[in-house]
Amino acid sequence: MVIIGSSNARVGLERGMEILRDGGTALDAVEQAIWAVESNVDDHSVGLGGLPNLVGEVELDASIMDGATLAAGAVGGVHGVLHPISLARRVMEELPHAFLVGAGAERFARECGFPVTELLTEDARRIYERGLSGEDQDSGRYAGKILRAMVGRLALDPERASGKDAGTVNVLALDGAGHLVAGVSTSGFAWKYPGRVGDSAVIGAGNYCDDRYGAAACTGRGEMAIRAATAHTVVRGLKDGLSPAEAGRQAFLELDWLVDAFWSGMNAVVLAPDGRHAAFSTVEHTTYVYMDEASTAVESAPRTLVAVTGRPA
Ligand code: GLY
Repeated sequence: MVIIGSSNARVGLERGMEILRDGGTALDAVEQAIWAVESNVDDHSVGLGGLPNLVGEVELDASIMDGATLAAGAVGGVHGVLHPISLARRVMEELPHAFLVGAGAERFARECGFPVTELLTEDARRIYERGLSGEDQDSGRYAGKILRAMVGRLALDPERASGKDAGTVNVLALDGAGHLVAGVSTSGFAWKYPGRVGDSAVIGAGNYCDDRYGAAACTGRGEMAIRAATAHTVVRGLKDGLSPAEAGRQAFLELDWLVDAFWSGMNAVVLAPDGRHAAFSTVEHTTYVYMDEASTAVESAPRTLVAVTGRPA
């Protein structure tokens, strides 16, 4: 039994491991671990307290994939749903669909009895407004560019906007029955164009899971993971016999082919069916978290740096 995640998954990892130790499923462990992150108001990249889009609305994306069946559920551009990971799970389990967006996803949430909540906290509103007014040197520069152009050019990673070690949550779990599940949840990039959906909701881009080969999930600039099908590329590498470390490295080298004026950091976590795990980043000095059967607390390990920079437009 193993559970791993992006560093901001720390707040939920013990709960996830407890579920696994009690004989629970990887599906429940991943969902519950992500719940804790979605509820964390100090994390400005996920759920409650997430930074809003260009017009000040918190818009959430999430997905979950079950490696036993290759079933997947995803929601994109959802407002007012505190736990989009659970909504993604309901899509997977109750509909003949894999992906709902916007008003349809919100309608389904209401039908499922999910409460509708205001997710924009005062703290997040202040960061958003500071970015628009240009008070914040870094975020203002990017937000100003967006406002001038009035197009969905990406603002910046919430990681840089909040100055905290956060930016979309990934959780991967292997349960006692040998099943793998991958989950991702995010408020996406701050000041994104309304309706922009990132890789977190796109199966194959930010999330992929197959019991036979392994699971992978991404954080960072989702447009790159969508274009390079990064999570699937990692799992394809595992299928081809690469170690988790090599599968991730090879998938990240593909990012170097992206011509991109807005190129920025990408990260991934990888978990193999035998419990081996690894994580990658194009940014120096980043970490991920994990717990296995021997862990008495959440453990942290450095991500492998894959030094790619993309090609300028
Ligand atoms: N990786 C999260 C996003 O691009 O929205």
